[in-house]
Amino acid sequence: MDYHRNPDLDPAERDETFEYSLRPQRLPEYIGQEKVKTRLEIALHAAIKRGDVLDHVLLFGPPGLGKTTLAHVLANEMGSPCKVIQAPAMEKKGDLAAILTNLEEGEFLFIDEIHRLSAAIEEMLYSAMEDRKLDILIGQGPSAQTLKVDLRPFTLVGATTRAGLLSKPLHDRFGMVHRLEYYTRAELAIIATRTAHVLGVEIEAAGAEAIARRSRGTPRIVNRLLRRCRDYAEVKGQGIITSPIADACLALHEVDELGLDALDRSYLESLCTKFKGGPVGVRTLAAALGEVEGDSLEDLVEPYLMQIGFLDRTPQGRRATEAAYTYLGLKAAEAGPLFR
Ligand code: ADE
Repeated sequence: MDYHRNPDLDPAERDETFEYSLRPQRLPEYIGQEKVKTRLEIALHAAIKRGDVLDHVLLFGPPGLGKTTLAHVLANEMGSPCKVIQAPAMEKKGDLAAILTNLEEGEFLFIDEIHRLSAAIEEMLYSAMEDRKLDILIGQGPSAQTLKVDLRPFTLVGATTRAGLLSKPLHDRFGMVHRLEYYTRAELAIIATRTAHVLGVEIEAAGAEAIARRSRGTPRIVNRLLRRCRDYAEVKGQGIITSPIADACLALHEVDELGLDALDRSYLESLCTKFKGGPVGVRTLAAALGEVEGDSLEDLVEPYLMQIGFLDRTPQGRRATEAAYTYLGLKAAEAGPLFR
């Protein structure tokens, strides 16, 4: 079915569904993350050979690197369905109990933002993951009884941007823990070309490279920028994403040569000038920027700034590096105590 042409979906929903149809379905189609893929390939083959379910998997890393995609790919490789839930949407223990008891044999359960499960719900997962058993409390007060329910064998895939926030008992119950890394430019250019192909838009190698260079190591950003470039190419060009078309389009959207956008630049400017290069706490920075939460900065802004060497996270707080000053065209010596 051509989901993305479905006029019944609102534009936001259409974009999301569309994104899903762009995702690779099988492991060989999944570009990058070579080490993780090799380890998973072996685990998949072994599980299939034994006729067993795949061990529980924890995926962690910055947003947009393909954790959800990988969970679906694993389920597809095992020939199993995959149920997706968002941890913050789980309010009562009964919510999770209903999901777990309804899982088919071999089904995958993907829990996104697993670090945000409440303690009570998280505890339920311990025996579910370890012994495939669920303790359900029936009734209240002295007459309350615990019912032990057997679960069908299943695979839990947990995803988190912060492995450090996961409790040790939960972390220890995952048979595999994989960290997803930022993608290389070459990998991102392949993803841009693949997505363009799926969208049916022509792209030149230099156009794919121009998008890859500004995508902050992140496939989700590649796909977002690619859609903007497709629009631009159709309206302002000949429908082909060339390097000049990508450059002009991304300049229009204020995405610079490093892929930094307006929020990244405000963050760095605030850190370097208002806070003299730090150290400063992330909440203080968030308050100074307004309209943005510390969590968003920690998930969306800071990991990439650290990756490109613009930011240090120290126990005292955030510090700008000399490279950040150079990028902003400021002299470190004038701005921050760090460099005096
Ligand atoms: N789309 C998003 N992530 C991808 C990946 N890792 N490989 C291929 N296509 C993708």
